[in-house]
Parts: sequence; C-alpha cells; structure tokens
Amino acid sequence: MTHTIVFGNAKGGTGKSTLSMHVTIALLNRGLKVATIDLDATQGTMTRYVTNRRRYAERTKTSLAHPMHAAVLPTDVAGAGEAELVKALDHANGCDVIVIDTPGADTELALTGHSYADVIVTPLNDSLIDLDVIADVDPVKRAINRPSHYAERVWKAKQMRARRDGGKVDWIVLRNRVGHLDARNKRLVAKLLDELAKRIGFRVADGIAERVIFRELFLDGLTVDDIAALSATDRLAVSHVAARQELRALLSALDLDAPQLSLRDGTGG
Ligand SMILES: Nc1ncnc2c1ncn2[C@@H]1O[C@H](COP(=O)(O)OP(=O)(O)OP(=O)(O)O)[C@@H](O)[C@H]1O
Ligand SMILES: [Mg+2]
Repeated sequence: MTHTIVFGNAKGGTGKSTLSMHVTIALLNRGLKVATIDLDATQGTMTRYVTNRRRYAERTKTSLAHPMHAAVLPTDVAGAGEAELVKALDHANGCDVIVIDTPGADTELALTGHSYADVIVTPLNDSLIDLDVIADVDPVKRAINRPSHYAERVWKAKQMRARRDGGKVDWIVLRNRVGHLDARNKRLVAKLLDELAKRIGFRVADGIAERVIFRELFLDGLTVDDIAALSATDRLAVSHVAARQELRALLSALDLDAPQLSLRDGTGG
C-alpha cells in the first residue's frame, strides 16, 4: 500500500520544501522506496534539491539513496495538471511512500494535490501571521473566531478525496522554525493551535526549531539524516542531534505502518 504525504500551506515560506525533502530522505535512509512529486515546479525547490543530491553523489562518489522524482508544471488547460499528476502517481505505484510538495498559494493544482493525500502536513512559522491563513483570531479575546481559507481548502480536498474513493485524509499541523526567544508569542500560538485542532480536526505534531543545519545542506542535496549517516555519530554537534530527534518525532507523528521505521529507530540508526 502506497502512503501519500502532501506538504501544504497556502502561506509561502513555511518550510514545506525543506521538510518534504527531510522526510523523504529519512524514509529512504530507513530502506523505504520513496517517490517525490513537485507540484511547485515553477519555483522548483524540491526538484532542485533532488538534482543537487544526484550531482553531489556523482561528484563525491558517495553512495546515497535517491527518490524517484517527477515535476508537474501548472497549465491553463483545464484538467491537464491533474492528468499529469495522476500519471506521476501511477508511475510511483509500487513505492512505499509518495511525498508531494505544493506551492504556498491557492492554485487548482495544489488543491488537487491535497485531495490525493493520505496525510497532509502543514508546517507554519511560529507566528500569528502564519496562523491567520488557518484561523481568524479574535484580537481582544485572543481566541479562535472561525477557521479561515486554508482550513477551508483542506476541508474541500478531504471532500474531493471522499468522493473519489471514499478515503480519509489525516491532517497534521506543526510549528516550524520555532525560536528560543519570544515565550509569550510561542505560548499564544501553541494555545490557539490546540484550540483549533479540536475544532477542525487536525493533529498538532511537535515543533521543529530554527536551526542553521536545515538551511545549509540544500546545495549538496543533503539533509540532517545524511549528516548523521555520513559523519561519525560521536562527532555530531548537539544541534544536529536535536534536529535528528525532531525529525524522528515527525516521522512517528506520520504514523506510517512500516516495520523499517521501528526497526531502524530501535537501533538508534
Ligand atoms: N527549521 C528550519 N530552520 C531554519 N531554517 C529553515 C527551517 N525550515 C525552513 N527553513 C528556511 O526557511 C525558508 C523557507 O523554507 P522552504 O523553502 O522550505 O519553505 P516553503 O514553504 O517550501 O516555501 P514556498 O512556499 O516558497 O515554497 C528557507 O530559506 C529554508 O532554508
Ligand atoms: Mg517550497
């Protein structure tokens, strides 16, 4: 059974591409067969990440696991984007996991992509501006008024999926780039997310901290998980170990029913 994970948020720059690659590589490194689909191919961050990884492996003669990748460009022709996406999904049939990266905007292709998810992962920056795309917050009461447009898009995607094959879509929201300072804002965003989770039915996963390691590996197409595998574990910086821990927490929140995950995690790999 192929499990499809869609990284989405109508807000740009929240870490969709970064986390989609980190999850992809972590799953590959645990022996799963993973396909990636870039639905934000105009910007093409995921596609570049995958290409950079292949080039790095060739250049340095390093043996690395690679996803089977497809990029789907948006088009004005009605239904053509979805047809391309379905082709890419069919091609990935037989993989354990498909990871789809989507643009930080409300496009038809992004919505269609969401409707093929088994799980949608929505990273958001630890900020009330980011929360605004999911919920309208009362400025006086500091409480949720109503879900806003991205929550409605997810709702629509869930309905599309239910109509197509009766399947259910799980939704996980996690705070990304969580800072060490600003305790009051952090507490408020966490409280509002918990409130909203109960109301519109998503799960809140543990946050991922703001760390340089998540930014500096792009040009070589590497991720935190590769650094752990390529370096001597006892030489890993504290922040790398913490980043790896955060990624593991995200993998277990994804609830993938794959024996490889518990096996490798159990041995500390
Ligand atoms: N945990 C993190 N720590 C530090 N930097 C991060 C972290 N996550 C993402 N970034 C950085 O934040 C920026 C936005 O990340 P990314 O491009 O993955 O977001 P996105 O949601 O895919 O954006 P877009 O909507 O434009 O596609 C990038 O510069 C990335 O390197
Ligand atoms: Mg992106």
